[in-house]
Amino acid sequence: MTAVVYVPRDSSAVSLGADAVAEAIRSEVASRRLDLKIVRNGSRGMFSHEPMVEVASGAGRIAYGPVAAGDVASLFDSNFLDGREHRLRLGVAEEIPWLRSQTRLTFARMGVIDPVSLDDFVTHGGYRGLTRAIELGADAIVAEVTQSGLRGRGGAGFPTGIKWKAALDAPAMPKYVVCNADEGDSGTFSDRMIMEGDPFVLIEGMTIAALAVGATQGYIYLRSEYPHARRALSQAIATAYSNGYLGANVVGTGKSFELEIRLGAGAYICGEETAMLESIEGRRGMVRFKPPIPALEGLFGKPTVINNVVSFATVPIIIERGAEFFRDYGAGNSRGTIPFQLAGNAKRPGLIETSMGVTLREIVHDYGDGTASGKPFRAVQVGGPLGAYFPESMLDVALDFESVAARGGILGHGGIVVFDETVDMARMARYAMEFCAIESCGKCTPCRIGSIRGAELIDDIVNRRRPRENLEVLRDLCDTMKFGSLCALGGLTPLPVLSALKYFPGDFGLTPRDVDFIGADLTLSPPGAGSSHAIAER
Ligand SMILES: Cc1cc2nc3c(=O)[nH]c(=O)nc-3n(C[C@H](O)[C@H](O)[C@H](O)COP(=O)(O)O)c2cc1C
Ligand code: SF4
Repeated sequence: MTAVVYVPRDSSAVSLGADAVAEAIRSEVASRRLDLKIVRNGSRGMFSHEPMVEVASGAGRIAYGPVAAGDVASLFDSNFLDGREHRLRLGVAEEIPWLRSQTRLTFARMGVIDPVSLDDFVTHGGYRGLTRAIELGADAIVAEVTQSGLRGRGGAGFPTGIKWKAALDAPAMPKYVVCNADEGDSGTFSDRMIMEGDPFVLIEGMTIAALAVGATQGYIYLRSEYPHARRALSQAIATAYSNGYLGANVVGTGKSFELEIRLGAGAYICGEETAMLESIEGRRGMVRFKPPIPALEGLFGKPTVINNVVSFATVPIIIERGAEFFRDYGAGNSRGTIPFQLAGNAKRPGLIETSMGVTLREIVHDYGDGTASGKPFRAVQVGGPLGAYFPESMLDVALDFESVAARGGILGHGGIVVFDETVDMARMARYAMEFCAIESCGKCTPCRIGSIRGAELIDDIVNRRRPRENLEVLRDLCDTMKFGSLCALGGLTPLPVLSALKYFPGDFGLTPRDVDFIGADLTLSPPGAGSSHAIAER
């Protein structure tokens, strides 16, 4: 019988040497004259074990990792094709506690299938959601998505069903479905993993959205920094076309849905949905005023459903299993599961899909297993570059939209970046302002000018140039950016700045009393009630 060995093709595994491992396996197979098939699967998301090689066996897939090309000969010598003992043997892949404890709904096939094999996708439950969607029809699909409680996974957490309903009810034609695959947040990679490891699920989700709202054309706005994702997606789209899952007559329904990829040129602001539309239309990525909302007047002025990759990729299982199935997971108004992406100075970084409401401590300490450096943990940034920094004392916050917001943070796209004790939080706060200055689209003053002044003010405070007065100005500036910016880039930049000030004032040469104007939820108390008062007292 032909032995089957899985070597991930995900770019995280490739960057750690997976291609060389596959090549070494090929050459051992040739010299030992073995009968073996190598499948290039996606990654299971346990990056500390990558490249993780798996061997099919009667007892499940036996994993070995992290495997270097130099380990391959010894794996064959140890009869790893029979699942035998070796110092890199991890056991049955799905039984590894790090994986087994997760709830993989959106990522159910991740690392399991050959990403570009339609047969593999269908054998593992793919296109069941679309089949049911065709039976349901437009109104019932939208109702199902609404009842599931799914909220956008791109950052804003807007209810997906409401957006779809607005587009469904919009009379103008044609309608569009646009997938936001710009994934600009620091430390995030869930979109990339889906596009590289299970691209058909994204195509399926977008096709269901198209049937739901009556759209005939779809675009995936993909960041150019994701060449592996582009390759896998392009191959999957071509296969979907040639098998009747895309094109003029989707699965014999008589409905047409065309799908194309559009490449971004590397601007963070092009992830903001209206700037993304500008970019797809061929202009510079500048934020549009809302209203009109894109669901009514979006791409080329027509009704447009815009969702994140994870949001679309979660729709098939919702439609297949029903709204209640998905709703059963989660906490409060944050329903379902979400893929957290643990990065930075974590010992065991990777993709963790769990029910919403898991605590930050569980992600950072239980899954992350401390810092990669071995030095004490100091801070964690949740929700990308515009997210708040939390210290150890805040780790019991539940990771759902409401609980994180109540502490002044955002869940964003689920990125969680860990820092050890060597981090200088004043530099991180300055970097937040600098990032905003670099990435600002320039349309509004609080963001365009405020971010530059903000970086200067932090420099002045740290360098002891009239620190208290400049802290007052910084406080006003944060207020102005928060309330006066047109979009969340300028509006949320105060979050990392204020949280760094609140929880780590010593790094700025300040005392906790200096920053007592920042509330526990990172709101600012009215002037005079906080620091101004405290400063006047001194
Ligand atoms: C500055 C900025 C950058 C953003 N970047 C992304 C991004 O890279 N990917 C994404 O899906 N959403 C991003 N968003 C959120 C989008 O504007 C939009 O809310 C989202 O694509 C809608 O999809 P969802 O409802 O499925 O989350 C960004 C928003 C802002 C303000
Ligand atoms: S907040 Fe910044 S990025 Fe957003 S519209 Fe204003 S200038 Fe552009």
